[in-house]
Amino acid sequence: MATTLISASWQPCAPGVWTIRHGSPDAPTLLRTAGNPPRLEALLALGTPSLPASHPAVALGAVGQRTVISVSKQLEEKLFGLGLNFKQLGVDRTVRDLHVDHYSGQDNGRTHAPVPFYLSDAGYGVFVDCARYLNVNAGGAHPITRQPPECDRLTPGWEAVRPGQSVEFSTHTDDFDLYLFAGQNLLEVVQRFNLFCGGGCLPPKWGLGFWYRVPIAFTADDARALVAQFAARGYPLDVLGLEPGWHSQSYPCTYEWNTARFPEPADFVAEMRAKGIQINLWENGCVSPSSATGRQLVGHCGSYAAGWGGLIPDLAQPEAGRIWGEVHEKQHIAIGVSGYKLDECDGFDQWVWPDHAEFPSGLDGEQVRQLYGLQFQKFTDTLFRKHGRRTYGLVRGSNGGAQPYPYVIYNDHYDHRDFVTALCSSSLCGVLWTPEARASDRADDWLRRMQTTCFSPLAMLNAWASDTQLWSFPEVALDVQEVIRLRLRLLPYLYSAFARYHFEGIPPFRAMLLEPGFVGPRTAAGPGVLDDTKNPYSVAARQEVKDQYMMGDAILVAPLFAGETSRKVVFPEGAWYDFYTGQPIAGGPVVTWTPADKRIPLFVRNGGIIPMLPEIDNVTNACAQRQTLEIRHYGDAAGAFRLYDDDGETFAYETGAARWVELKTVKTAAGIPAPATTDAEIQNLPAYAGAKWIHLG
Ligand code: GAL
Repeated sequence: MATTLISASWQPCAPGVWTIRHGSPDAPTLLRTAGNPPRLEALLALGTPSLPASHPAVALGAVGQRTVISVSKQLEEKLFGLGLNFKQLGVDRTVRDLHVDHYSGQDNGRTHAPVPFYLSDAGYGVFVDCARYLNVNAGGAHPITRQPPECDRLTPGWEAVRPGQSVEFSTHTDDFDLYLFAGQNLLEVVQRFNLFCGGGCLPPKWGLGFWYRVPIAFTADDARALVAQFAARGYPLDVLGLEPGWHSQSYPCTYEWNTARFPEPADFVAEMRAKGIQINLWENGCVSPSSATGRQLVGHCGSYAAGWGGLIPDLAQPEAGRIWGEVHEKQHIAIGVSGYKLDECDGFDQWVWPDHAEFPSGLDGEQVRQLYGLQFQKFTDTLFRKHGRRTYGLVRGSNGGAQPYPYVIYNDHYDHRDFVTALCSSSLCGVLWTPEARASDRADDWLRRMQTTCFSPLAMLNAWASDTQLWSFPEVALDVQEVIRLRLRLLPYLYSAFARYHFEGIPPFRAMLLEPGFVGPRTAAGPGVLDDTKNPYSVAARQEVKDQYMMGDAILVAPLFAGETSRKVVFPEGAWYDFYTGQPIAGGPVVTWTPADKRIPLFVRNGGIIPMLPEIDNVTNACAQRQTLEIRHYGDAAGAFRLYDDDGETFAYETGAARWVELKTVKTAAGIPAPATTDAEIQNLPAYAGAKWIHLG
């Protein structure tokens, strides 16, 4: 059957955002499920651009049972995004099957957050708000009417995968809306997308401290002994994550405490909180049918059990949420538990329900697969909101629209390089990602992994299976300690970066290609090198910068991997300085950097201002009193940094308790910038007593 596509036109719906509404207004889409209104004031503050001249044309149509959405592009346009990916950032010339799943080693669309959003270097982004699997053809094959000119394989320049002139989505539903986001640069497009979805999350301050997840069968006494060891050895600890053994039974779960391992849960949680340590609980969404909660949930769950058995509550049904919420509130939140790790809500296929499963709300298995992580985040976040406390936790399945939910994605893939690429990729699709450390077979790998996790949204050792300790490799034990301590010292800088995620939509950790002024290679043109076993179609490797990233506005993080003593760093324009010594970096923009020691390479841009705490052991305890900041400022340019603060744990910031102060330096006659913000101004923020300024560079 021939495709008849009918063009549709973009209608304005928010400042810098246009839509093509297509589905029924009640259809369960990603944004409707996430349920967060756009941050209109922040969008307005970002400007009111007109429809970009380069905007894509859209045509819609049906082919058999499938709806086709065709979005035009220019041949030379480069596209990025389409969810959380681990190998590459560019997505033009690829085909994907966007489907929530556990990542299995290939960027094929089956991933933890297959967000149907892409960015174009022509200055716009497109989001398909749809809760179905989406097949995406981003220039792999070409509609017959728009084929590239023929070329013989033996002619130099022949390419197996040629750029196309459209991005096509197809699915078997009519229920989707399209959105177009404008931007003067890629970062501004991402900002608009994030703000339209409700803005980024603002974690409680303790969430940005150090996390340790215990082995699976840990007891309360094991935990006490471990906490004592952390203190005795001088390792900071903010959050203790309990893995499945805290449940009386798990896989499927009861959500009730195992009283043999945790005889007095409320006392245990209170005792840890008194030390400044928060308790986070692992769970999955499969409820034990024989538990008290499972018995009540009968009639409110899907028609299939998980692979290991267990009811899947239908979170689109208020009654299921009420029953399931009750056990969470009574057994955990009311006694002071700080949050959850929401496991197994992604896949693999054999562990979750099939697409034809039925749910009492009317959703089918496919829709719930796309939505479950999102629903789970919303469900738990809402419970904490009722108690006036912010939460921060982990989730393995997510999707478009999750920006405001305070959850960080993780997985079992455990490839250090891929983990860093995922950190870059997460900033292109509105989610957070942690390259958690679990175990290593060698000391240098352990140190490098610990360093990366300390420069991510959630710094964590997840020792659930290996029981690896921070000090398991004596030759790097002090280096590990040093990087965790540095993570905590950077709290004012990092918390401010998250505040900008929330209020302005700027991701706190981001791919270099989002940096205005970054001219690093983005993707290769032309054919690659023919190799009869590894590259039989001589496909070009993308020349992407995906092993370094920005943390906030001023710090460039360039992790090293096991066995490396030097690496290539690509700098955005301007002068850059070594974070530790202030030494200027010569020879940019592409530099081979050989650090003098084992520390993670960090660089600061000219004029960069980095507010830091003194050495602390625990975020909650340190925040109980005003701290004197150490403010480092780098280089010979004047600079500014917007320092943010609030109470760090409640929602008062949403109703006026958010405070900002601008930390500034001005150029003196001697040419060296000097501080221009007074201690009195800094004291306007509840957390700080004043500052000691240090000039480097
Ligand atoms: C896995 C999860 C691990 C750990 C484990 C416990 O699915 O990715 O981090 O929590 O379950 O069974």
